[in-house]
Amino acid sequence: MYKCKKCENTSAMKLWKCPSCGSFGSFVEERNSFDKTKSKHSIKTGSVLKSGINEKISFLKLENMELNRIFQRWIKQGGMYLLWGEPGIGKSTILLQIILDVLNNNPSNIWYFSGEESEEQINDRLERIGEWKEKNISNLAIYHTMKLEDIISTVEENGHNFMIIDSIQTIYTENTDSVAGSPSQVKYCTEKLSEFSKSHKITCFVVGHVTKWWEIAWPKYLEHIVDCVLYLEGDRFGQYRFLRTKKNRFGRSDETGIFEMTLFGLQAVYDLKDKLIGSMWNTVSGSLLTVWIDNGRPVIINLEVLLNKTKWNYPKRVALGVDGNRLDIIIAIMEKYLNINLWFVDIFVNLPGEFVFKDSWLDLAIAVAIYSQYKDKIIDKNTIFLGEIWLWGQILKSKLHDKRKKELPKGFHLVDFDSMKNIVEIGNVV
Ligand code: TYD
Ligand code: MG
Repeated sequence: MYKCKKCENTSAMKLWKCPSCGSFGSFVEERNSFDKTKSKHSIKTGSVLKSGINEKISFLKLENMELNRIFQRWIKQGGMYLLWGEPGIGKSTILLQIILDVLNNNPSNIWYFSGEESEEQINDRLERIGEWKEKNISNLAIYHTMKLEDIISTVEENGHNFMIIDSIQTIYTENTDSVAGSPSQVKYCTEKLSEFSKSHKITCFVVGHVTKWWEIAWPKYLEHIVDCVLYLEGDRFGQYRFLRTKKNRFGRSDETGIFEMTLFGLQAVYDLKDKLIGSMWNTVSGSLLTVWIDNGRPVIINLEVLLNKTKWNYPKRVALGVDGNRLDIIIAIMEKYLNINLWFVDIFVNLPGEFVFKDSWLDLAIAVAIYSQYKDKIIDKNTIFLGEIWLWGQILKSKLHDKRKKELPKGFHLVDFDSMKNIVEIGNVV
């Protein structure tokens, strides 16, 4: 069997040009990868932990409040964890913080394998975070490598109990011929690491890069191989980061940890009720607050709307963070039932924080913000609007409404389907 090194298309014959991706000379014969592994690095079974680490440890304690929330107080020894996130979001930073927490609270020896950054770069980041204790940092070994076989043999020979791979897309094995980062490389390396970490009871954290486009693509199958899947999300240029569990074989998978990116790493945010995503919300019309509940944790976000006279034949509608189709529907409902003409105005809606909400719970807030800009009236800063608007203007209970209402921070006044039955009553609040 022959395989294209670029796109992994297979063929029984060696082809000069790949019919799938169009590359020339990319077909190579596929060899039996598992036999080759055995001849080079046979993986022993059973525990090989040395260096004074207690072999009976089965859980690693954590101190950081937000990490505890995510891992439910313990990291499982021998567990395989996958951390997804966009480039630059802070994956390497949070991993170093997990490492330091483990080292400060458990007898552990940790290997950090980085295929992306040099040892100096990682050391610089460690200096920056600075929450380590001198005596424990000597149990951390940082190694810049990209070869899977080197990683496995290094951990085997040194008997550490914890390893980090940053990132899985930069690691390659000699046992498949495709380039590092290709689906078969990533799958093979993750499977081998999982097998190795299970048989040797070594905790393994693997970092994976995803982009919005990738999220629905091939790396998803890796989530079946590992025990726990974590997503680090948020606004790359803003300050807050949300660490979420998507799958957890060792506990609940509906937790969110909130962090703030500072000059000294990611600091836990215990409460976002008093903090605000967005700014300048109470000084202009078209700006109001809304509340989003993330796994039971309320987050207050500032919704902003700007209306401008249309310069072209068609009005422009821009929806950042909210669904564009829902925005069009809300505008149509407002034009019909409020008797206003939005045809000659461009409408820009922005929900900061790189969240994208397609749900209907924001309908009423968007309509009120548009109306407030249209009338140039400032909205009361302590009022939160929650509700779905139906096509004939009726305001209804949106999904998770009761949960949102229950978690509403103190000091806020709620306007929902109870106090406003129809969009025509919007004039009472603006
Ligand atoms: P990084 O962990 O390298 O992201 P990833 O591994 O997901 O690619 O962090 C990236 C950004 O975080 C980088 O732009 C610098 C910033 N940063 C801080 O603001 N403060 C800090 O203490 C650290 C370590 C990083
Ligand atoms: Mg990184």
